[in-house]
Amino acid sequence: MSGIKLLATGSALPQHVITNHDLEQIMDTSDQWISSRTGIRARHHCRGEESHTGLCLEAAKKALERGGIRPHQIGVCLVATLTPDHLTPATACVLQRELGLEEDTVCFDLNAACSGFVYALHTAECLLAAAERKYALVLGAEVLSRVIDMADRSTCVLFGDGAGAALVQWREDYPSIHAVLGCRGDDRVLVVPGVNKREPSVVHMEGQDVFRFAVEALPRCARQVAQKAGITLEEVDRFVFHQANQRIINFAVKKLGVDPAKCTGNIEHTANTSAASVPILLDELVEKGEVKPGDKVLCVGFGGGLTWAGALLEVARS
Ligand code: COA
Repeated sequence: MSGIKLLATGSALPQHVITNHDLEQIMDTSDQWISSRTGIRARHHCRGEESHTGLCLEAAKKALERGGIRPHQIGVCLVATLTPDHLTPATACVLQRELGLEEDTVCFDLNAACSGFVYALHTAECLLAAAERKYALVLGAEVLSRVIDMADRSTCVLFGDGAGAALVQWREDYPSIHAVLGCRGDDRVLVVPGVNKREPSVVHMEGQDVFRFAVEALPRCARQVAQKAGITLEEVDRFVFHQANQRIINFAVKKLGVDPAKCTGNIEHTANTSAASVPILLDELVEKGEVKPGDKVLCVGFGGGLTWAGALLEVARS
């Protein structure tokens, strides 16, 4: 036995909220179309001085403060993202300076799209096993408003900005998170532009193909995690699924046969924030007291890559 447990969380959302009714004013869409197909009613977009790094800093500071851990105790700092302010320096490197982490802290950004946060949790668990300092900051953060095409109504209504942070501790007597990670290389159905100038500079998505992938990958991954951890799905206290589309989650919940009350989300006000969605939801649930010390939380991300990732994260008892 050895692994990580969750000590504390934090999150940050940009001030500016765009509702479906706001979008009705600038494009041919309707609140009815968006909410009935996705469950989304509003999303946050960065404006002015707000940035990816700024959101990460806010979320990380909250997690550190709530966990009562000082920056010099952190051994690993990871940021899962596909929309960093810079390709280099990594946001995690800027956090090292701004939070005052030690210079030998392992800091890097990781891109596994919407599965990124869970990929990063697993990476942190592995790195902490060999690290001198056994605490890690694991973040998921996106500023997707910078890469969406506001002229493409079939994609721009779906995405929002935000950041979430988890403070975790590794101990020999803690259980592993039993991560299940996977990928099926596909550069057709969901593409976010990089530095290749020959590609369009905005998000491209084949919505129905992604939908079909998600409704298969999400329940499969959740089952595999429970199996690996040696527990039944009924023993899970809370499911935290990537908030891509309420209909995807409804399909998965039905397929898994789990209690829908354990699977509620926040897509209504955040939309899809890719790598940030799992830690933002986790933070909201912790803040509302719906995730409590001792709880077993099964997190699943899925999306671009195509990737999927699941883990059973236990909340530490204080
Ligand atoms: N408002 C109004 N109409 C819209 C619209 C919008 N924002 N976007 C598309 N439409 C129209 C289309 O133009 C199309 O019109 P047509 O029939 O006249 O051609 C119609 O609505 C249906 O489009 P379609 O793409 O078939 O809709 P859909 O039922 O597949 O729903 C998604 C689209 C994107 C909501 C759905 O495919 C989906 O959720 N996919 C998964 C996306 C996702 O979760 N991605 C992230 C994974 S991490």
